[in-house]
Formats: sequence, C-alpha cells, structure tokens
Amino acid sequence: MIAVQNGHRPRARLAALGAYVPERVLTNHDLEEMVDTTDEWIVSRTGIRERRVAAPDQAVSDLALAAAGAALENAGISGEDVDAVICSTCTGDYVLPPTAPLVSLGIGASRSMAYDLNTACSGWIYGLNQAYALVESAVARTVLVVGAEVLSRFVNWEDRATCILFGDGAGAAIVTASDPDTATGFLGFDLGADGAGVPELLVPAGGGRRPAHDGDIPPGDFFIQMNGREVFRFASRVMVDSATRLLEAVEMSIDEVDLMIPHQANIRIIDHAVDRLGIAPEKVFNNLERYGNTSSASIPLAMAEARDAGALRPGDLVLQVGFGAGLTWGSTLVRYEPLLPAASGSAA
Ligand code: ACO
Repeated sequence: MIAVQNGHRPRARLAALGAYVPERVLTNHDLEEMVDTTDEWIVSRTGIRERRVAAPDQAVSDLALAAAGAALENAGISGEDVDAVICSTCTGDYVLPPTAPLVSLGIGASRSMAYDLNTACSGWIYGLNQAYALVESAVARTVLVVGAEVLSRFVNWEDRATCILFGDGAGAAIVTASDPDTATGFLGFDLGADGAGVPELLVPAGGGRRPAHDGDIPPGDFFIQMNGREVFRFASRVMVDSATRLLEAVEMSIDEVDLMIPHQANIRIIDHAVDRLGIAPEKVFNNLERYGNTSSASIPLAMAEARDAGALRPGDLVLQVGFGAGLTWGSTLVRYEPLLPAASGSAA
C-alpha cells in the first residue's frame, strides 16, 4: 500500500464487527467419552459447557475470512476499501507464510498490506492497538483486524487439563479514520509482556527451536502444554492490574464503562476481575459457556454477539481486557461508533 502523511491527524474509530464459528459443537458430555472428566467438573471449574471445532478441511484463514466478510458487510464497505489486514493468530495456516495475505486475497483487498501478529490470547488487543496506530499516524485509513484460531489442532485430546478449555472461532473489526471532531475512538491502551512466563504455556516443538523434522520429539510436545494454576494466578492478577492502570491513565472511573468484554478463558478468572474492579456484573458480557477459550478470537466474538444481543449499543464505552501466553496482557477503552446504524454480520 501507499501511505502519504497529509498533515491531518485522524482518530481511529471502531466502526464494525463480524464473527464466525465452525458448525461442529463439542459438548462436555462428548469430552466425557474421550478423557477422564465430567460435565460437572468442567462447568464448575471453568464455566464452559461446549466449544466449536473446525471441520477437517477448514484452516484458520477460512474462519478468518468468514469473520472478515461479516465485518465488511457490517461496515458497508468492500475489500477494496481496506488498507491493512492484521491477522492475530497463534494457529496460522503455515509456519511460513503469514495467514493475513490469504485473508486479504479472499476479501479482494488488492492494495492492502497484510501481516500476522501473535501474542496468543492477548492478540486481539495488540491487533486493535496496531490498527489504532496505523490509522492515527495516517499510514492507513481503514484497517481490518481479525482474531482467528483453530486451537483444536494444537490441543492434546488425551490431556484432560487442557483439552476441555479451548475452541475454534474468529472475530473481526473494522477500524477506520474519522475526522478528529466526529469520533471519540480509542481512549487508550495498556499492553505488556513478561517473557519469564514463556514456560507456563507453550507448544514446545514445531517451531524453529525444535523443528518438526528434528528426530525424536515426543508427540505431546507438538501440543499445548500449560501450568494451569500458574496461568490462573497470573490471569487473575493481570486482568485487574491492567484494567486499573488503563482507567487511571485516562482518568476515568469503572462506573463510566458501559460494557466490559474480558477474554473468555475461565469464568472464575472473570468473576474475580469483575469483583475486584467493582464493575456491575450486568455490564459484563460473557459467552465462554458456548465457545470455551478461542484465544485471540474470544473478545471480538463476544463483541459481535453482545451487539447482536443488544448489550453493545452505538456510543457505548467498552473496556476489553485480555491475557495470554508469553505471558502477555492488554486492555483498551474504546467507544463503539458503528458506521451503519443497524446491526448485521452476525456470529454463529
Ligand atoms: N476433569 C476432572 N479433573 C481434572 C480435570 C478435568 N478436565 N483437569 C484437571 N483435573 C484434576 C487435576 O488432575 C487435579 O487433580 P489432583 O488434585 O488429584 O491432582 C484437580 O483436578 C485440580 O487441578 P487444578 O489444576 O488445581 O484445577 P484448577 O482448579 O486450577 O483448574 C484449570 C484447572 C481449569 C486449567 C485452571 O487452572 C485454569 O483455568 N487455568 C488458567 C488456564 C487459562 O486460562 N489458559 C489460557 C491462557 S490464554 C492463551 O494464551 C491460550
């Protein structure tokens, strides 16, 4: 793409949303047939009842493309209007190349730059931050951000401690330039990473450190390995700390937030954050009961569903908070300012 600074600083506006989930539903009762677990244990420890699993012929770019199409429709624009495609995923189609060019091709964004971003489950917030930075620095006018995952391909279906948690899905947003006076846009971001936490949540093999062709790698090392208790502790702390730092930085109180969309990982982590932040529970939208943890897709999937349910309304101030492998985290405060008044481009 060509970028020319014209001396005018636009505001980045969260203008449209879209989502897609695969058709196949895997319930807790299905998992009871696969590993030593119970529906009761999974619901009480996580809040999850079912999750979606991509069809064998679906890769992450297929899910991303469906969500992207829904977001474009919701914005009333075409792929030709898109200057940049950012695909947040940790389960890309290939190690090389990135997935974003496939999405860009699929939506007909022929003059768009396209790149992937991987900060695991925090990727959605990082992706929004990139879109914000591109638009407000006048590098791009219209950015498509997609969070898409096929975690089912990297879950060890024999490991009951992890296979119950994750699901597949995709969510997307259009972030576009608005005149400084006509939109509130993004109020701020809090982003961070602590590399000391890498061992707590990773797929140990298949990357450059231990390539797939490198001799005697135990099969389990190609799947997600997680220290659940440590990640739980980290997540419970960082969601509260990150959101609090952001609110302080923008000099706002939690009472001014209309809707909070937390990363959908575990209802106990969410309930802890809601309690500590002091936000009214009815201002928090969750859907992890039906989708589990879809990593970087979880927040946009919940955003799109909240919109369709009438819980996210034009003008609402939304607090989004995520955390993920790395260990990483991110929060943003944004006013939802749709281009088109009517909701469309619904999820499942
Ligand atoms: N069914 C039944 N029992 C189970 C299951 C299961 N599916 N899984 C574990 N258990 C058992 C354990 O073996 C253990 O038994 P033991 O006491 O005999 O050893 C017992 O249940 C308790 O295990 P804990 O690990 O202490 O259970 P906990 O209450 O911590 O819940 C969980 C585990 C749900 C994984 C929790 O730790 C958690 O949610 N952690 C955070 C995970 C997370 O959010 N990850 C995503 C990060 S985002 C990203 O980037 C992907």
